[in-house]
Amino acid sequence: MSQPAYEIDQMISAKSIAARIEDLCCEIREEFSGTDKLVVVGLLRGSFVFIADLVRELDLPVEVDFLEASSYGNSTESSREVRILKDIRGEIQNRDVLVVEDIVDTGHTLTHVKHLLESRLPRKMKTIALLDKPSRREADVRADWIGFEIPDEFVVGYGIDYAQRNRNLPFIGKVRFT
Ligand code: IMP
Ligand code: MG
Repeated sequence: MSQPAYEIDQMISAKSIAARIEDLCCEIREEFSGTDKLVVVGLLRGSFVFIADLVRELDLPVEVDFLEASSYGNSTESSREVRILKDIRGEIQNRDVLVVEDIVDTGHTLTHVKHLLESRLPRKMKTIALLDKPSRREADVRADWIGFEIPDEFVVGYGIDYAQRNRNLPFIGKVRFT
């Protein structure tokens, strides 16, 4: 399927992302300082770069797991229905869990995933999102930690795609249709 022409304008530099992750990890380390092994659950596919940088900065014993929920398909519009395409492999009952999301947009994905994982009775569960678009929220949810609040723009890079492209950009850029 062909996509409309667009350009990408840098919005958040790789350096700013790295600096923000350092700060966030200080807080996360403190929150989970007593854990014997934190289960870090990345939401595929958009969080794969963020989770890689996050766990290397965390300096805690971690287990890494992944969950895939359906999202936009190839458009820039959210589908309100959330389906689990791939579940985590590990058990989380009585464990400390950190859910890692790329962007909280309408909030439907994070709400659904939180309910699902909470039903498995983790000891403590927290959520982190690299980006938050509060102006787009439809579900009443907020991540416990947020990297950056951004306006209602469609963004790509640092793991985040537009129709499966641009995930490998080192920065966050906004899509401008030309
Ligand atoms: P929500 O369920 O509407 O909160 O959507 C969350 C998911 O939509 C995110 O995890 C992203 O995968 C995707 N998404 C939301 N905004 C953007 C964007 O600006 N660019 C790319 N994907 C996005
Ligand atoms: Mg996502």
